[in-house]
Amino acid sequence: NKVVFGDGNLKAKLVFVGEAPGADEDEQGLPFVGRAGQLLTKIIEAMGMTRGQVFICNVLKCRPPNNRPPAPEEVVHCRPYLKQQLEIIKPEVIVALGNHAVRALLQTEQGISALRGTFQTYEGIPVMCTYHPAYLLRSPGEKRKVWEDMKKVMKLLEKSGK
Ligand code: URA
Repeated sequence: NKVVFGDGNLKAKLVFVGEAPGADEDEQGLPFVGRAGQLLTKIIEAMGMTRGQVFICNVLKCRPPNNRPPAPEEVVHCRPYLKQQLEIIKPEVIVALGNHAVRALLQTEQGISALRGTFQTYEGIPVMCTYHPAYLLRSPGEKRKVWEDMKKVMKLLEKSGK
């Protein structure tokens, strides 16, 4: 229905990268506006920021039919857009939400369970790997781990003095 390119501040210090638009996002043309998005908004606000201060986007810019996972060739098609978004914004820190974001950014076969809670690097930018908010909706007991990860992100942003 709509291309969901991304939303937020082009001067953001922090960029969140998710998987792909869902039905709500496809309808509105905006990322993370459904249930998972509401949880992401809460996480951002708990970090003392607003959605307008950060930038939010996805690996895929269009909704896969029936919310199926991104196909490898779709990731290959969309990655240049993500790359350019990150080149323009030049954030201090990137948060990769879930397996697909981690794999697309880091071009690794390692999964989120191995990398969660760690900083990896994308083009010299630290990438915090954490769980996707949709996973937290299914497993609310894991929210605490994401909060631990976001505290590391806040510390790094503080240290960079920005
Ligand atoms: N899940 C995602 O990965 N991205 C969105 O925009 C919404 C839900």
